[in-house]
Amino acid sequence: MPTLRIHGYAFAVSSCFIIIVAASQTHPSEVNALIDIKRSLIDPTDNLRNWNSGDPCMAKWTGVSCSDTEEADGYFHVQELYLMNMNLSGSLAPQLGQLSQLKILSFLWNNLTGTIPKEIGNIASLELLLLSGNKLSGSLPDELGKLSNLNRLQVDENRLSGPIPESFANMVNVKHLHMNNNSFSGQLPSKLSNLSNLLHLLVDNNKLSGYLPSEFSMLETLRILQLDNNNFSGSGIPSTYANLTRLVKLSLRNCSLQGAIPDFSSIANLSYLDLSRNQFTGQIPTNKLAENMTTIDISNNQLNGSIPPTFIYPHLQKLSMENNLLSGSIPASMWQNVAANSTDKLTINLQNNSLLDVLGNLNPSANVILRLYGNPICNASNIESIGQYCAPDGDEDYEVAQNPTNPTTLCPIQNCQADYEYVPFSPVPCFCAAPLRIGYRLKSPSFAYFLPYINSFELYITESLKLDYYQLSIDDAWEEGHRITMRLKLFPSFNDPNHKFNASEVQRIIAIFASWKFPSNHFFGPYEFLNYTLLGPYASDSKSSKSSIDRGVLVAVLIAAAAFIIATSAIIILLLVIRRGKYQRMISKKTPGASIKLDSVKELTFRELALATNNFCSSTIVGHGGYGNVYRGTLSGGTVVAIKRAAKDSLQGQKEFLTEIALLSRIHHRNLVSLIGYCDEEEEQMLVYEFMPNGTLRDWISGKSEEAKLRQNFGMGLKIAKGAAKGILYLHTEANPPIFHRDIKASNILLDSKLTAKVADFGLSLLAPYEEGSGTKYLSTVVKGTPGYLDPEYVSTHKFTHKSDVYSLGVVFLEILTGMQPISRGKHIVNEVNVACRSGMIYSIIKSRMGSYPSDCLDKFLTLALSCCQDSPEDRPSMLDVVRELEDMVAMLPESDDSITLDNSDEMVSSSSLGSNAAREDQHKYAFVSGSNLVSGVIPTVVPR
Ligand SMILES: *[C@@H]1O[C@H](CO)[C@@H](O)[C@H](O)[C@H]1NC(C)=O
Ligand SMILES: *[C@@H]1O[C@H](CO)[C@@H](O)[C@H](O)[C@H]1NC(C)=O
Ligand SMILES: *[C@@H]1O[C@H](CO)[C@@H](O)[C@H](O)[C@H]1NC(C)=O
Ligand SMILES: *[C@@H]1O[C@H](CO)[C@@H](O)[C@H](O)[C@H]1NC(C)=O
Ligand SMILES: *[C@@H]1O[C@H](CO)[C@@H](O)[C@H](O)[C@H]1NC(C)=O
Repeated sequence: MPTLRIHGYAFAVSSCFIIIVAASQTHPSEVNALIDIKRSLIDPTDNLRNWNSGDPCMAKWTGVSCSDTEEADGYFHVQELYLMNMNLSGSLAPQLGQLSQLKILSFLWNNLTGTIPKEIGNIASLELLLLSGNKLSGSLPDELGKLSNLNRLQVDENRLSGPIPESFANMVNVKHLHMNNNSFSGQLPSKLSNLSNLLHLLVDNNKLSGYLPSEFSMLETLRILQLDNNNFSGSGIPSTYANLTRLVKLSLRNCSLQGAIPDFSSIANLSYLDLSRNQFTGQIPTNKLAENMTTIDISNNQLNGSIPPTFIYPHLQKLSMENNLLSGSIPASMWQNVAANSTDKLTINLQNNSLLDVLGNLNPSANVILRLYGNPICNASNIESIGQYCAPDGDEDYEVAQNPTNPTTLCPIQNCQADYEYVPFSPVPCFCAAPLRIGYRLKSPSFAYFLPYINSFELYITESLKLDYYQLSIDDAWEEGHRITMRLKLFPSFNDPNHKFNASEVQRIIAIFASWKFPSNHFFGPYEFLNYTLLGPYASDSKSSKSSIDRGVLVAVLIAAAAFIIATSAIIILLLVIRRGKYQRMISKKTPGASIKLDSVKELTFRELALATNNFCSSTIVGHGGYGNVYRGTLSGGTVVAIKRAAKDSLQGQKEFLTEIALLSRIHHRNLVSLIGYCDEEEEQMLVYEFMPNGTLRDWISGKSEEAKLRQNFGMGLKIAKGAAKGILYLHTEANPPIFHRDIKASNILLDSKLTAKVADFGLSLLAPYEEGSGTKYLSTVVKGTPGYLDPEYVSTHKFTHKSDVYSLGVVFLEILTGMQPISRGKHIVNEVNVACRSGMIYSIIKSRMGSYPSDCLDKFLTLALSCCQDSPEDRPSMLDVVRELEDMVAMLPESDDSITLDNSDEMVSSSSLGSNAAREDQHKYAFVSGSNLVSGVIPTVVPR
């Protein structure tokens, strides 16, 4: 499952919302591109395994999502690629450029290195390019300028260098350019003034030089211009910037600017002006700035003259003029704005100037902090209480938001279950609910202190999310640089009976954050979506992904047991190989790309198999089990195959894997499913089998497919029984070394397009013991197999013999005859049939299912089945006897019953015949019964392997 250091399962955290958008084909070139993209990433927590295995059309927010309708070319196309906060390193592949209809590309907050591939410039449809918070280096490719649909470019917090390309002037739709915190150098291109939709330009914390282009005054829509910490040595602020009348924030801190401060009084919406730490000279402009100013910082310059009596702003929070050359008197109007009874706070810093006295009374209210240290006024003995304003003092700490008194303190302590908590301001008191946690950061707010704006911020967030005000709580907020980081908690409505958001609500909310669908609020500025964590009940929502894995503990345990069998069988095979030295020559040394040369089994590449399965799209899954999922795929030649893909924890050593393949490749019989290929590559092990379009014998018995219903008659059942028996006889007697199946059951017998029975899953079996010396039999301490099919003798003695396979097959025969499950409502089929036989009921059961049949033939089959199921192994026939008897019975069938010509020869099935059209036409009828027989407690295992 996708996880992230943030969205990690390790954290019991979010991330994997898997939405199956598409059942059809994603464009093959895009599937190919996705493989390359994944390959160039390093994924330490293996989060991408699922992405990769998933439908390209699978996961929102941590994966890939495709168009929901087929495009004109008949394919689905990847539209969103979200790999946010997943601990990824590695680099961005040039193949990203092949995702020709991509709209959102997000690799936020990973550890990516390398350069930004120029090919991204080919994605004309791209709207959001989000690469913030990585270690990308190199320069910005000119080609990105071709992204004429781009709305948002975020490359901040990387190690990018070089100039800002002039070609960016062609991104005519761009609204947000966030390039801060890199090492960009050179001149800001004046051509960017063409960007007639630009709202936020953040280029702070770089190494830009040159001058501020006066042409920027043409950026009529610009709201935030933030250029702090660059070096525009010696140039000034063009006076034309007074034309940027929509500006809300202008921040030019520490930019080596000179000259006079222009008159910005014409900028009516300005709230935040920071010109500190430059070399501005001359006087402070006397015209009043906008009414809504919250922050004015002109400290650390060389401003002289006196302070104009115009600093009267009702929302002012911070007025910094320290470390200048100001002289004259301090106008008392500066601190008279803030009502003494308000909770607002105002800091006025005038330290280290040449201020002499006060124009008016020195009576700031308690919520005003006034600093006068380092001015001659501090020596004036005639001003009462001057001392308290003249203490040297460090920088004012940025205020951290505090939650107002939380009314839930009145609730009983710890009355919510784990992962639930009281919703602080819920209209229903003491309402417990599970919060959705979001890491959020205001990147460039236009205020100095958050507290007075918290309420309007909460309103802004909740209204944008269509939630009620009480559903948001800010857990914690703190300043980082001039940004405000916070942890948000979102709660479900107090009406919600489950006390948590449902999966689609979670999806909706995360979507709004992740695709920047908040309406712009220039006062709060742009935000950063840092992470989201889905704990407690949300973690399980996100895990119950594409296939229904949640079947309870029992299943989990048995699946684990199956995995154990696989592991054990691999070890046993290996031991035998070492002992006998027989297959050594087939196995290459353990080297990268080691492979084996086998006539009938092809080595296939991961890429071929990904293409065959639409990048392992979940819609191609036909079964799953302890080993991993089984996919239906179509190889490039048209051959339809079943691909068994090992889950990460089922991977074997390369040698063991190849040994097993060598063994399986030697087994060919028309009643055994053939291995036709394998893949052993980059943490992937897959076995490729011929595809069985008619599903399992269990499907046939339960009349699941139309095909099965049509041919559900006694003759067909008998022929299937014979086929299965012949396949197993081959394993027992002709395979070298001999193999016991150990898990014979109706769902391990598959039916090809002609309903020929083919036994599957013998790869899971242990080899039959050799009769060596005293003829010791293999003794296992763990009973393996499927309940209902287990030989009672084996269960009690742990000795598995060929008669144990006979018993299981007998149970299958009884299923064919009666349609019953091996165990249903706690009753075992063998007992039930024995009882029914005694009471004479059995014939009516069979007749209603099987139509007409030669009655002596039925008697014989029933007798054979029951003798296979004798408690004592000695009383059971051998597999050879079973086959002979079934052959006799089939010979007794009337010709007319033989509606399908069955080829009786046992020749090998060549893999090339598998891709027949017939097989493909039958595809849609295939319905693998993953778990359909659970009612009886019979657990499906992997098919086929
Ligand atoms: C990035 O890698 C460094 C070590 O190279 C590690 O300390 C850090 O946690 C990683 N960060 C993320 C977000 O994966
Ligand atoms: C912008 O500034 C220029 C030069 O200062 C001036 O001539 C022009 O009228 C201004 N434009 C607007 C729209 O104010
Ligand atoms: C000042 O701020 C208030 C909200 O705080 C807003 O409604 C008003 O439009 C602003 N005024 C100007 C001139 O921007
Ligand atoms: C503060 O005082 C003024 C007048 O003295 C009054 O109009 C205003 O309502 C008071 N505000 C608060 C928050 O008490
Ligand atoms: C999410 O981001 C917030 C803010 O940076 C941080 O405090 C929190 O630990 C993060 N959560 C996870 C799971 O990384």
